[in-house]
Amino acid sequence: MAPVPLLVFFALFQPLLICASKEDEYLAFKKCLPFNCGKLGEIGFPFTNNTSPEICGPYAVDGCHENSQRIQLVRGGKWFELNNISQAGTISITEEDLRGHLNSNSCDSFNNLSLPPSLPYLSIQEFSNLTLFKCDPSVNFPHRLGLNYTGCKNFSIYYTRDTSLPSPPPTCSILQLPVNKTESYGDIFRLLTATFSIEVFVSRPCYHCYLQRGECHIIEGKFKCIHSIEESKKLRLKLGLGNLPPRNV
Ligand SMILES: *[C@@H]1O[C@H](CO)[C@@H](O)[C@H](O)[C@H]1NC(C)=O
Ligand SMILES: *[C@@H]1O[C@H](CO)[C@@H](O)[C@H](O)[C@H]1NC(C)=O
Ligand SMILES: *[C@@H]1O[C@H](CO)[C@@H](O)[C@H](O)[C@H]1NC(C)=O
Ligand SMILES: *[C@@H]1O[C@H](CO)[C@@H](O)[C@H](O)[C@H]1NC(C)=O
Ligand SMILES: *[C@@H]1O[C@H](CO)[C@@H](O)[C@H](O)[C@H]1NC(C)=O
Ligand SMILES: *[C@@H]1O[C@H](CO)[C@@H](O)[C@H](O)[C@H]1NC(C)=O
Ligand SMILES: *[C@@H]1O[C@H](CO)[C@@H](O)[C@H](O)[C@H]1NC(C)=O
Repeated sequence: MAPVPLLVFFALFQPLLICASKEDEYLAFKKCLPFNCGKLGEIGFPFTNNTSPEICGPYAVDGCHENSQRIQLVRGGKWFELNNISQAGTISITEEDLRGHLNSNSCDSFNNLSLPPSLPYLSIQEFSNLTLFKCDPSVNFPHRLGLNYTGCKNFSIYYTRDTSLPSPPPTCSILQLPVNKTESYGDIFRLLTATFSIEVFVSRPCYHCYLQRGECHIIEGKFKCIHSIEESKKLRLKLGLGNLPPRNV
């Protein structure tokens, strides 16, 4: 093909392509209506009901017609009990396994929470937490931390009221677990709590970028979606590779 018709081809089709993707987005969002969810009331993006497609929002909520509701912080991930959603995007959730462990004074309480790692479209704000040192029982903790729990066979737990912490011996691991600030420091299983608040934040363009398998970057205050499927399609078309099957690499 001569260069001139090619140019005309792209001048014609490039705007159409953009329109088509806007149209798809519009249709998808039309299907993503706010919905009523039990005691939470009416909720919408970034929350969706469990049967809606992921493009409607990353956080699937379930049990809207039951007494308690559940939420997934990542699709297909762990379910948390969802207590409430504030206007500011703070949600109160309960880790039910931890609640069970704390209620039965179990040594299984002393494990890291399985919250999702930070994702490009999601930021999980830290919660009020207590730092615990989980040490081999044979370790003689060299610092006077003040508080300990030695009721577990395989490890001892050391913690303190102070905010400044010593660095622990190398055989200790560090745990940060949510804490109930109204409780006294006497009983570790009451001081720790399985109910805590996190802030879930989603920028809509970043989320769409993520769905397109792109990397979301904020460059000089402007949103950029890099390496997305849409972007590479456009690039292939620009290079005249639009109709070729994907190369085997
Ligand atoms: C989930 O949302 C879709 C679309 O808004 C709706 O058709 C469906 O009935 C909802 N499902 C439940 C369980 O509420
Ligand atoms: C949300 O639920 C938590 C735990 O049940 C409670 O402590 C908090 O006060 C509630 N917040 C709102 C705004 O209702
Ligand atoms: C625990 O609290 C500290 C101090 O506020 C904070 O830097 C840290 O990110 C928190 N950790 C978690 C897991 O929220
Ligand atoms: C744990 O705390 C108690 C009371 O403060 C103290 O007597 C004991 O020596 C501590 N145990 C360890 C292993 O540090
Ligand atoms: C202690 O550790 C052993 C081996 O790692 C494990 O089999 C056992 O279940 C642990 N006991 C407790 C009480 O966690
Ligand atoms: C908890 O997570 C932190 C950070 O990922 C890690 O450094 C620490 O070793 C973990 N603690 C335990 C007891 O697994
Ligand atoms: C914190 O402790 C108080 C007093 O025991 C209790 O009433 C409250 O329910 C606890 N809150 C959480 C989130 O566990």
